[in-house]
Amino acid sequence: MSDPVLLISGAAFTDEERARLEASMPFAFVSGPPDMAALEEGTRKSIRAIAFKGHHSLTGAEMDLFPGLGVIANYGVGYDAIDIAAATARGIKVTNTPDVLNDDVADLAVAMLIAQCRNMVAGDALVRSGRWSAGESFPLNRQMSGSTVGIVGLGRIGREIANRLAAFKCEIHYTSRSEKETPGWTYHSSPVEMAKAVDVLVVALVGGKETEGHVSRQVIDALGPRGIVINISRGSTIDEGALLDALEEGRIAGAGLDVFLNEPKVDPRFLKLDNVHLQPHQGSGSVETRRRMAKLQLANIEAFLAGEPLQTPVN
Ligand code: 8YV
Repeated sequence: MSDPVLLISGAAFTDEERARLEASMPFAFVSGPPDMAALEEGTRKSIRAIAFKGHHSLTGAEMDLFPGLGVIANYGVGYDAIDIAAATARGIKVTNTPDVLNDDVADLAVAMLIAQCRNMVAGDALVRSGRWSAGESFPLNRQMSGSTVGIVGLGRIGREIANRLAAFKCEIHYTSRSEKETPGWTYHSSPVEMAKAVDVLVVALVGGKETEGHVSRQVIDALGPRGIVINISRGSTIDEGALLDALEEGRIAGAGLDVFLNEPKVDPRFLKLDNVHLQPHQGSGSVETRRRMAKLQLANIEAFLAGEPLQTPVN
């Protein structure tokens, strides 16, 4: 096999896609950025594209290991792990996988909200344990339909979530950089003001420095005792310490979280709480969506290598 032109960083491809690649494009593999420096110099020099998956940061220092690198194709819509300014400064293009995952991520947000309101994990445990058959009854819980919901970040995914929740007869409020054209939803310029007006906050922001701690202690405090926080964006968008304090002290009702600050290392304080629903960052994790993401990632790499326009460029 000739020298690899592609470096796969993270296990983004299925066996099917790997087989396709093996036939068309020589590639090398590392599990993430920390392993890149250990690649042989000859391999590093021949690499022209990186297929990137994961949330470990990819900085200018790693990019400099590959003098012929022209494109980093991210497997995911969020590219906060990649230093875009460093890539741009080096003339390296970055691509992502927008849109193809919107439905799955929005579905998971709604699913976590229903699971949280209807206490579904505890319900499952009651049935499995035999306690229900033995006569124990399940406490009444909370209706989800008709909730007043505030979407933090009305981008492509936020809008899908809002559309779904509108079908659940929810009253929709939102914050975003600017007011958008919406079917009668209420815009707030301040997240604190929105939190005062709603029972549920669904966080659908992009990650990165710009949105770090956007859902602050003040926002969480404004939500009040019926408040539920759902996060399918990045752990960094919420002041996680403030969220934990509010959950532990019962100052809000609960949370449904698919993302965490130091994931996959979840703060052990979460594990002691029974008012949270926790998921392993699986928003886009259906077979169908992951296949579409890999296809788009590969299409960007192939376009770059063929000198054609990139499908979903970021910079
Ligand atoms: C991850 C995601 O990319 O698209 C995103 O921004 O967070 C996910 O789809 C996926 O989990 C692979 O790391």
